[in-house]
Amino acid sequence: MTPDLPPGGARAVARCDALGVAPYSDMAEGLFRAYLTPAYAAAQEAVAGWMEQAGMTVRRDAAANLLGRYEGAEPDAPALVIGSHLDSVRDGGRYDGPLGIMLGIECVAVLHAEGRRLSFPIEIYAFGDEEGSRFPAAMLTSRAVAGTLDAAALDIADADGVTLDQALTSVRVERSRDICAQRVSTSLDTNGGGVAEYLTAAREPGSIRAYLEAHIEQGPVLEADGLAVGTVTGIAAQLRYAVTVKGMAGHAGTTAMRLRRDPLAGAAAMVLAVEQTTRGDDSDAVATVGTIEARPGAANVIPGEVHFTIDVRSGAEERRNAVAEAILVRLKEIATARELDLAVERIHDLPASPCDPALMDVMDEALAAAGQPVRRLVSGAGHDAMNMAGLCPTAMLFIRCEDGVSHNPAEHVEPEDADIALRVMLGFIERLGARAGDRNAA
Ligand code: GLV
Ligand code: MN
Ligand code: MN
Repeated sequence: MTPDLPPGGARAVARCDALGVAPYSDMAEGLFRAYLTPAYAAAQEAVAGWMEQAGMTVRRDAAANLLGRYEGAEPDAPALVIGSHLDSVRDGGRYDGPLGIMLGIECVAVLHAEGRRLSFPIEIYAFGDEEGSRFPAAMLTSRAVAGTLDAAALDIADADGVTLDQALTSVRVERSRDICAQRVSTSLDTNGGGVAEYLTAAREPGSIRAYLEAHIEQGPVLEADGLAVGTVTGIAAQLRYAVTVKGMAGHAGTTAMRLRRDPLAGAAAMVLAVEQTTRGDDSDAVATVGTIEARPGAANVIPGEVHFTIDVRSGAEERRNAVAEAILVRLKEIATARELDLAVERIHDLPASPCDPALMDVMDEALAAAGQPVRRLVSGAGHDAMNMAGLCPTAMLFIRCEDGVSHNPAEHVEPEDADIALRVMLGFIERLGARAGDRNAA
């Protein structure tokens, strides 16, 4: 299904491209691969095959993450985990997430082709639910692995009323039919534990020496500076709210304007308040209303109920919280003035996550050894690394993407840049090996 390319950055990019269409997408034109959908199961099947080709044993964990393991000379030594996410936003780009997985597989493919093992194992995690594009939660699967997820967070359903438990069970059925019948049948386990077993995906503290994630920058900084790659210093703190505004549904032709309690008009004022409050803060804080739905949703009916989400971020948690608080005050004022009922639920809260200083130095050294100028930058986007930081030291490498465009089908990465990233990752792994006392490491 992919061009017959040798191991390298070009093959990693080609594999992301191959996963950008049906059956690896559930959208006819474009890419949408949400957690635990048929497209997700199909993509896992393909990635499992590539992991096996690269010399790894493959399994799925209880959170429906796919993971490949390349043994080290000392099997009990704490593993280096390389990971990113396989899911996408609706109508997303092909590289946000999968490129980090494919580059991890390429790292192992290079070692395997050379017949080399480090003292420690390398594991590649293809995480499931980074984007939160199906359930009212995000990053469930890396939180499960890091052991920071609460069982209460698993009691959720998607917009069609399918619970996480049902989705976990049905994707397993799908997989045992579509995947296990094929070449990876022996290496994928088939436990169907649903949410009851979800938290057993947690890894033991101390079992992982470091987590490495390569990801497209999703912003314009590297491109503006003429750089292919850069060392990430940390990830901004995130907050997400689900907002419900209730008014009075009514006839669009007969209800006088002065008698209306229209929650959509109120929500419109609230959306502008989100923008104005955040702009007024004049800091690095950003806030976004990314979804909105009016019910019942008919041209001749004043809506009775509106639902929207707010996403607030900043590199500093106190700044993020202060802006979020100011937004919520404005929302309450608007609701009161318009006699609307307002309910706000916090559905996602992740602290800022600094990368490990010692591993940043290792990454800088690997950049320099690959002939790249050393550049450090912060991430406004969230990544699975935020959660893995609760378990082990983390490092991230950003890769230039065209015009800084992401969460958009126009997302583009040059294969040459992916190749540079691969060389930097291999240099990083060599240096970790040297720190672990491996012979023949850099
Ligand atoms: C993930 O892409 C996020 O930053 O929301
Ligand atoms: Mn994304
Ligand atoms: Mn991503």
